[in-house]
Amino acid sequence: MADVIENTEFVPAEGAATPASIVAALKAVAGNPPKVRASFAKGRCVRGRYVPSERVAEITRSVNFTRPGRVLARFSMGGGNPNVPDTNRLVLRGFSFRIETDGETSDILVESAPVHFARTLDQMLAFLKARIPGPDGKPDPAKVKSFSDANPETLNQAKYIAARSLPASFAGTTYWGVHSFPVINEAGKTRFIKFKIVPRIGEIVLTDEEAKEKAVDFLHHDLEDRIRNGGIEFDILALLDRPGDPTMDVTARWPGEDERETVVLGTITIVAIDSDHACDVSIFDPGTLAHGVGYPPDEIFAARLKAYRISLAKRQ
Ligand code: HEM
Repeated sequence: MADVIENTEFVPAEGAATPASIVAALKAVAGNPPKVRASFAKGRCVRGRYVPSERVAEITRSVNFTRPGRVLARFSMGGGNPNVPDTNRLVLRGFSFRIETDGETSDILVESAPVHFARTLDQMLAFLKARIPGPDGKPDPAKVKSFSDANPETLNQAKYIAARSLPASFAGTTYWGVHSFPVINEAGKTRFIKFKIVPRIGEIVLTDEEAKEKAVDFLHHDLEDRIRNGGIEFDILALLDRPGDPTMDVTARWPGEDERETVVLGTITIVAIDSDHACDVSIFDPGTLAHGVGYPPDEIFAARLKAYRISLAKRQ
């Protein structure tokens, strides 16, 4: 572990991107706030339960998805700033959940956009470096523009978010797992799926006028209110692959993704707020997957396996 944690000073090193240099760049973009996550720094820890659907075995035979389980989860705001206002329409919303079933664990991390902002690790590092604030506290618009012009696919995520209204609730937001996960079903057949987490109450948003009235932590208060008044429910959907899907490119959606055949794997109900400590003491680990759910094959996923541990070591 020691050699992994080395070289994580908050000044990104020159040269090829590594999980450590990516974490350093994430921190630098946010102004290096101490003792918080390098990404999705502001959030709230909650608890709930998972109940499988009747069709789940068509997609996966894993214990975590085919049996009822306990859930530890965290709703969050994108970026490394722990004080980002919930009224900021242009940052992602995050949702991480851990399903625990009979001693087996599955962590799934999802966000409010169907694509990531970079296809390769080098591209991710360059994207972040272009956005590190200068002495005036702001990124250099010329650097951002010249990087974006040369790497248009890195704008797919920002365009997706910019086209949407301000989320009115964590409980009324749709979240995506972005990567293509190979999953084996009860019949022994493996296929790729994407996770899509759909709120039972549908998507709810605010107009710009309504947003002006909202406090900086309104999403967090809304979460508490909704839990007090009966809980929050999400369906976990599997989007089903077709031959030729771009499973290696996390900046691209699968063709016709919104019209894809889907299967509901199960439902998560959030029933209680937990202490921050319960979520902060370790990581929601993208590499902790249910038996029979494999690692996505893209290089971005591979980097995540180390990056979260490096961030944990830095914030503890
Ligand atoms: C190479 C790509 C990525 C890197 C390097 C990365 C890195 C990180 C890091 C360092 C953290 C903080 C970990 C901690 O201290 O606990 C984090 C948190 C998080 N990331 Fe990523 N991330 C990447 C891609 C993604 C993608 C594609 C998603 C969603 C599909 C995602 C969703 C999240 C969420 C929801 C959290 C908050 C976890 C929590 O609530 O504790 N990340 N990420």
